[in-house]
Amino acid sequence: MRLDKLLVEMQIGSRSEVKKYIKNGLVTVDGTNKVKPEQQIDPFEQKITFKGKEITYQEYEYYMLYKPADCVTARTDALHKTVMEYIESKRKDLSPVGRLDIDTEGLLLITNDGKLSHNLLSPTKHVKKVYEADIEGCVTKEDCFAFANGLDIGDDTLTKPAELEIIESGEFSKIRITITEGRYHQVKRMFQAVGKKVVFLKRLEMGSLCLDKDLKPGEYRSLTKQEIMNLQEDDYAYEHKRRNF
Ligand code: URA
Repeated sequence: MRLDKLLVEMQIGSRSEVKKYIKNGLVTVDGTNKVKPEQQIDPFEQKITFKGKEITYQEYEYYMLYKPADCVTARTDALHKTVMEYIESKRKDLSPVGRLDIDTEGLLLITNDGKLSHNLLSPTKHVKKVYEADIEGCVTKEDCFAFANGLDIGDDTLTKPAELEIIESGEFSKIRITITEGRYHQVKRMFQAVGKKVVFLKRLEMGSLCLDKDLKPGEYRSLTKQEIMNLQEDDYAYEHKRRNF
């Protein structure tokens, strides 16, 4: 990749700033500062320094965003603020993993690791997603059975078994639901199928990843090494199970 692109991605500065740093001899590649912005670099083989400090190239970035309501899960949008506008990274290849509706809050993973993203979204991997929701209507034990048995939400097939826990039941109910699919408006359509309405929806978990309780809506943080490893192991566990089935 180009030297200037690498430096921008590693947050050294803007494209014009890094060009200036290179011109002023502040950047070295394999010990020499006689380098050009357009020079092709192998970040895994070559040693790059800025102001004497080595730059380690991070190929992938992983962020956990507490998606607020009123923003869309898209990279660009003409009308609404997008989830990407909350992330300050200079990487242009970051994308949200899956989507939450505009009025849904909660855990959203944003990364440029295409393989992990693909695995987490693959319908064959049954990655669990946990949501909490406020429901208009009285959620009953019968609803829990119906959710566990699969519901007709107007698609070709019934929904996969979902675990519905009632936290409070009344004119308005509070629930927690675990699903393993990612159909369009899935949770809302499941409640619609039993004559009830989701009035608040928040995602708490995706696979092994849990929304950090210290984050507020609109805040984000990088995943820890352990969280990344756990997500990759979620995938491994699936592959392992599948091979031994
Ligand atoms: N189910 C929904 O209905 N909406 C979401 O945003 C996520 C799951």
